This record gives sequence, C-alpha cells and structure tokens, in this order.
Amino acid sequence: MSNLKRAMDTYLNGLRNQHAVETQAIGTIQNELPRMEAYPELHLKMKADHERSVTQAARLDDLLEKHGSKKSLLKEAVTGAVATVAGFTHAGAGDEVLKNVLAAIGFKAYEISSYKVLLTLAEAAGAGDDKSTLEQSMREEQEMGDWLGSNLPNIVHAYLERKSA
Ligand SMILES: [Fe+2]
Repeated sequence: MSNLKRAMDTYLNGLRNQHAVETQAIGTIQNELPRMEAYPELHLKMKADHERSVTQAARLDDLLEKHGSKKSLLKEAVTGAVATVAGFTHAGAGDEVLKNVLAAIGFKAYEISSYKVLLTLAEAAGAGDDKSTLEQSMREEQEMGDWLGSNLPNIVHAYLERKSA
C-alpha cells in the first residue's frame, strides 16, 4: 500500500468517525434542549448548534461520497436520536444545565481538535480541496465553544436566580 493510499484510508476513517461524533452531538442536544428552555439565550444557541451539527454531518457525508466511500445513513441516525428524546423530557431541572454546558464545552474542544486532525489528514491524503469545508465546520465549533465559555458566568447567574425564585 502506498503512503498516499494509507493516508487516504486513515482520512476516510477519520471522516466516518467525525460523522459519528456529529450524530452523537445531534442526539445529545435534542435530549438536552427541553431542559434548557428556562435559559432562552442558551436554548436558542443550542438549537442553532443542533442545526449546524446536522449540516456538519451532511458535509462529512458529502466528502465521503466524493471520495467514493459509502454515505452513512444520516437520516436513520437522526431518527434514532429523536426516538430517545421522549425518555429524557420528564427529567427534572436540577443543576443539569450547568453540567450539560460544561460537557458541551468539553465536546466542542474535542470537535475543534478532531477537525484539526482531519485537516492534516486531508492534506496528507492529497485531498487539500476538502480543507475549506472542514475549516468551515471547525470555525463553527470554535464559535460555539467561545460563546459557551464566555457566557458561562451568565448561565451560572441565571441558574442561581432560578434557584432562589
Ligand atoms: Fe459539530
């Protein structure tokens, strides 16, 4: 196997892994959204992130298809995620919102780094054309991560206010 072919295999595998990561994000956000309704700004931002994750997963699918790899079954994955929502909507509104935001910040950091890995792999695999698409997704993750990080104090205050209300 040539080095280029090996790099392409690793890259395609990376795209599939990232697709799974985005699909997981879609499901997680859907589960958490009902519990964030009391935090309108956060709720709005998470809703937008949900939509972005769907777009990001579709971008990864398009790249896989472009390289002759089978498209993953995004629709089924999304439907599967929807099916699990019902079980979570009754959960109480304790301090989960803070835990969820912390988890989301960690998840964003992971996503930013994994897009960085994909950018390096794309280059090594001779797929430099893919980089602008991957960079677009990486910028979106960065933007959301930054927003969550800088709004963390506001979210904590909103949480405390709700508790004392
Ligand atoms: Fe994402």
